[in-house]
This record gives sequence, structure tokens and C-alpha cells, in this order.
Amino acid sequence: MSQAQRIRVLYEEEAIARRNEEMAKAIAAVSPPDLLVVAVLKGSFMFVADLIRAMHRAGMTPQVEFVHLSSYRAATISSGQVEILRDVQSDVRGREVLLVDDILESGRTLAFAKDLLAARGAKKVSSVVLLEKPGKRAVNIQAEYVGFDCPDYFVVGYGMDVAHSYRQLPYVGVIETADQAGLPGI
Ligand code: IMP
Ligand code: MG
Repeated sequence: MSQAQRIRVLYEEEAIARRNEEMAKAIAAVSPPDLLVVAVLKGSFMFVADLIRAMHRAGMTPQVEFVHLSSYRAATISSGQVEILRDVQSDVRGREVLLVDDILESGRTLAFAKDLLAARGAKKVSSVVLLEKPGKRAVNIQAEYVGFDCPDYFVVGYGMDVAHSYRQLPYVGVIETADQAGLPGI
């Protein structure tokens, strides 16, 4: 059986594309054109690539940076510690920054990144996430822009992985396992 045949699609490519355009317009309406976009690797690489092209269409001229954070997960459970594997190279002092992440779950990753950039003198740090899993927050943080409210499933695709696989899928889905086969849709 191929990899893709075992995935139940939650968010289709077209739905993600439409939502990206909407979010880029909303971001463009309240941000400086040269906003500094900081993508949190690895999971956000596909999302940020699409989002900055939507920002271009919305008239923006963003600068793009990357930070690679690891949240020490044992299997699919986050342990709570965040480590910087690759830091941003730009000086963020006085800049308006938009953090881009794939999923807001406990909030630890985004809170860590936000605190880090604020401590380095960023003028304003806001966040956009493709997915938010409600009811999972361990720290008090909100993203200003949320693509979709996601049920509490472990999702893959559109940059998101399980053990480094499935990132290439152009949609977001759930791996069908025997115990998940009967889960309700969204
Ligand atoms: P947080 O620090 O608990 O908010 O974790 C967010 C990070 O955990 C995301 O950036 C993802 O990298 C990862 N993550 C959380 N849930 C999922 C999932 O369902 N699939 C893949 N990665 C996930
Ligand atoms: Mg991540």
C-alpha cells in the first residue's frame, strides 16, 4: 500500500491555498510591507513558502528568516523543553516580526520563540499558525492568525511529519490506523 492511501485528508490543498490568501491579506492590512517573517523549522517550511507568495500578491515585500527549534518529543507527546537548533541570523532589534509555525498545541514552542525575539528587542512579535489544537495549551499564548481549528488528532502533511515522513503531502491529513479509523471528520 502506498503512503498516501493510508491518509485521511482533513484539509485539502485548495482549502489551504484559499485560507493562505485570506490570512496574507489580513496580515498585509496591519503590517509594514517589509515585515520580518521568521519561520519555525522544520514543520512550517511549506506553509511559509506559500504564505510569503500570498503576501507578495497582497502587496507586501517581506524579509524571510528561519529558526529551528526542537521541543523534545517522545513519540508524539511534547515534553516541554525547547532547544534552539539553528538561530535567526538577522538583527531583530526595532523590527516588526511575524512568527510562522505549523501547529499551536501546548504553545511552548511559540512562546519560547516570541520571548526570545522580544528579549532581543523586536518592536512587535505576532504569530501565524496553520493549525490550532484547542484545549491543549500549557502556556498562555494566542496566535494573531490561525488557519484552521484542528481536532485533537496527530496530523501529517503540508510540511508536518511523523518520524520525518509525510512532509511532502500537499494536504493535511490523519494517518489511518485501526484505532483511529472511526474518528469523526471535521
Ligand atoms: P507546542 O510547543 O506544543 O505548541 O508544539 C507545537 C509543535 O509540535 C508544532 O510546531 C509541531 O512541530 C509539533 N506538533 C504538534 N502537534 C503535531 C501534529 O499533530 N503533527 C505533527 N507535528 C505536531
Ligand atoms: Mg514545529
